Amino acid sequence: MKVKILMVCLGNICRSPLAEGILKSKLDSRYYNITSCGTSSYHVGSKPDQRSIDIAKQHGINITDQRAAQFKISDFTIYDHIYVMDSSNYKNIIELASNDHEKNKVGHILNELHPNSNLDVPDPYYGGEQGFENVFQMLNEACNHIALKLKEPN
Ligand code: 4NP
Repeated sequence: MKVKILMVCLGNICRSPLAEGILKSKLDSRYYNITSCGTSSYHVGSKPDQRSIDIAKQHGINITDQRAAQFKISDFTIYDHIYVMDSSNYKNIIELASNDHEKNKVGHILNELHPNSNLDVPDPYYGGEQGFENVFQMLNEACNHIALKLKEPN
């Protein structure tokens, strides 16, 4: 059975599509199912933000096939690990969990780099291009840790 990983942000057009694309580039799709969604319905059905598409492309990753979706309660059953980009996403997702097993699947993605710090991946939506490069670098480092951890024998 594949390990299933869900990346979550607010709109599912800037940060979590990058997290999805980056982690996919580091793990074999035969063994890992990686996708992303937003806590909001604002952009459901949309392609990633052009600035995320561009920054991913500059780093050799194609995210143009992604389409935004909204988090669903049933995702708690489907996914093994749910990585949120910020504390607001965390609160929104945890509020939907029905038990500790579901809550324990949810974590801040930057805790992979800075354990228990609950740091936010800054929302680059209202900023400039540099914000997207900054987000890419943070997510790339976090995904390096996630990929290594997942590939370790249990
Ligand atoms: P994301 O960024 O959560 O990283 O996809 C945002 C995208 C859209 C909006 C907010 C954040 N919005 O308000 O439409």
